[in-house]
Amino acid sequence: MELEQISGVGKSVAKRLKDAGFANVETLAVTPARELMKRADYEKLEAAQRIVEAAREALGCRFITAYEHWEMTKNRLKCTTGSKALDKLLGGGIETQGITELVGQYGSGKTQICQTLCVTAQLKPENGCLGGNVLYFDTEGTFSSNRVYQIAAENGLDPGQTLHNIILSRVYTSDHQMFLLDNAFEKCAEENVKLVVVDSVISHFRSEFLGRETLADRQQKLNLYMHKLLRLAEILNLAVVVTNQAQSDPTPQWGSAVTDRPAGGNILAHACNTRVWLRRAKGGGSKRVAKVFDSPCLPEGECVFRITQKGIEDAPEEEEGKEQKNKASESDGNK
Ligand SMILES: Nc1ncnc2c1ncn2[C@@H]1O[C@H](COP(=O)(O)OP(=O)(O)O)[C@@H](O)[C@H]1O
Ligand SMILES: [Mg+2]
Repeated sequence: MELEQISGVGKSVAKRLKDAGFANVETLAVTPARELMKRADYEKLEAAQRIVEAAREALGCRFITAYEHWEMTKNRLKCTTGSKALDKLLGGGIETQGITELVGQYGSGKTQICQTLCVTAQLKPENGCLGGNVLYFDTEGTFSSNRVYQIAAENGLDPGQTLHNIILSRVYTSDHQMFLLDNAFEKCAEENVKLVVVDSVISHFRSEFLGRETLADRQQKLNLYMHKLLRLAEILNLAVVVTNQAQSDPTPQWGSAVTDRPAGGNILAHACNTRVWLRRAKGGGSKRVAKVFDSPCLPEGECVFRITQKGIEDAPEEEEGKEQKNKASESDGNK
């Protein structure tokens, strides 16, 4: 996209940007303002910030052909979760240029998956990983550096180095969450971040906006937040993983028992490309079941994995086989 298409950029500014090595809007949009200031000799950081921001805006409202879209999605990377069965369910792993949502009851394994991804995201793309650093927004105070240290060590990596490559941000309110995301563009570009985790995306919104009359405001703010996250994922070709809480459904559709559904309503449903429901497997222990739902491009399905010292792993084979058999007999029964 041509530089002149940025609002406020005429011929002379475009020339100045080109001379500084910025050939198009795309490269400008992913450049930290501080770097632009230096390279294009701007005296004030604000001036550089305005241009970078306008470049991002311009990208947000452009029209592209389906071929350009195909070219863009060709660059997508996939990151292993540590479990082959879960990767397969996800169509190869957690994808860049999109948002993956993990939802489930307390203890279903959401944070454990996020913390395992903190490690795998750093490994090389040749090994089915992202080869970059991690930005982790912790809204519930449940991030454990000890646990990430353990996962890295158990997988034969240098745990200290692994922790160095994770940028941690404790989030205290929904306003703070919004503010931190606005600053994430810069941070992610500067630090070669390839995975952004928000654990959880919803907790502050749920605790601050109480009562029906505040619902519209809450959803509007959440919508803006999700859109910014998606833009970050697309522009910087990085993976975004958010966790969501389960809430009980007061009007269950099947049968009389109260059922769970994801919090966040339609806003989260629409913004997330892949949604994964997590639950404890029958019989307890370390096994968990993951189910993909509402996906525009993945078939609905389930798999079993387990949580171990190494993080997320495949369940032993006979267990996986048993679960498959159960499912087969269930679907036979439905015929
Ligand atoms: N080092 C570990 N080894 C094995 N299992 C663990 C380890 N650490 C935590 N877990 C298990 O992970 C589960 C908690 O999962 P978590 O991801 O925190 O749930 P949530 O969905 O609430 O985020 C607990 O059942 C716990 O036993
Ligand atoms: Mg958690």
